[in-house]
Amino acid sequence: MKEIQPYTFNAAPFKRFRQLRTDAAMRDSQAEVRLSANDFVLPFFIVVGRGVKKEIGSLQGVYHLSPDVLLSELQEPARLGINKILLFGVIGEDHKDENGSFSASPDSPVNIAIRLVKESYPDLTVITDVCLCAYTSHGHCGILDGEVIDNDKTLAPLAQMALSHAQAGADIVAPSAMMDGQVWAIRQLLDLHGFNKVKILAYSAKYSSNLYGPFRGAANSKPAFGDRKTYQMDYRSASQAIDEMAADLDEGADFLMVKPAHTYLDIISRGKTAFPKVPMLAYHVSGEYMMLKAAANAGIVNEEAVALEIHTAIKRAGADWIISYYAPLLAGMVNSKVKTFQVFKT
Ligand code: PBG
Ligand code: ZN
Repeated sequence: MKEIQPYTFNAAPFKRFRQLRTDAAMRDSQAEVRLSANDFVLPFFIVVGRGVKKEIGSLQGVYHLSPDVLLSELQEPARLGINKILLFGVIGEDHKDENGSFSASPDSPVNIAIRLVKESYPDLTVITDVCLCAYTSHGHCGILDGEVIDNDKTLAPLAQMALSHAQAGADIVAPSAMMDGQVWAIRQLLDLHGFNKVKILAYSAKYSSNLYGPFRGAANSKPAFGDRKTYQMDYRSASQAIDEMAADLDEGADFLMVKPAHTYLDIISRGKTAFPKVPMLAYHVSGEYMMLKAAANAGIVNEEAVALEIHTAIKRAGADWIISYYAPLLAGMVNSKVKTFQVFKT
């Protein structure tokens, strides 16, 4: 066999990037993004009743909880350092009507939950979803006129729902109905009632995505006819997302959101570039979560490693906070990543 003669340089005509990757410490030195437990917002699905904890068929590892059980279920996330939650209400057909009236009731599961959580965990930031689809008999996010959603008629019930959450003690309300003027309507009503400290998280760039299916199973909010394409954004449009964000900020939004997240990293990035001072959220949605679960169940990927990679990418794109069903898993992982080691050989 012929010996290989190493090539000799006076000075290598290329840059040695691999010097930056020789060991864990060098790789850490190049890390521009690090996830921490308080980057996450953990969603919960709250049902009517007491003592309920039932795994959701469409959303593996996520549960329907009654307000009392939510309290005990919060202990572990709180211990992991998760300090923000997002509450969705889930009700049966018996509580639904055309106008989604139960959405603003002080007795809605979300309002009961907010009051209990605020008593036991005063430092936890409570965010609530504000939308009618889980409360209307037809499953659309707004008030119908025939088979068409009436934008302006929907503003008052959305504002009333947000007000009821503020009265129960919510810190942030998050309108997700994609009605024009919803942020303005909510801001007005909150201020009128002295809730100027309650903040608004606008689901500004919420796309009409095929990845919400598992959520609609969980929230019992599937539209009875048609789809949400007349109110949620068309996924072929990017620049309109920036216009939606600008409009929401004008209307009084305190936070912006892009949804879904993993498939919309470009929108997160453009949004953060356009509005660098506004906290940007991204929602890793139910379909994104379940696609990874399915791949992991099939043994195709390492779930923990891929979840960490995807959420790091979402933060790298520009998200300040990430709403994710993976929050507990990831919080546990990033907390334990700081390894101790032996300095001296014994
Ligand atoms: C309600 C709402 C939806 C989601 C959040 N808020 C569903 C929808 O628009 O049909 C989806 C969240 C997820 O898929 O995890 N408007
Ligand atoms: Zn909705």
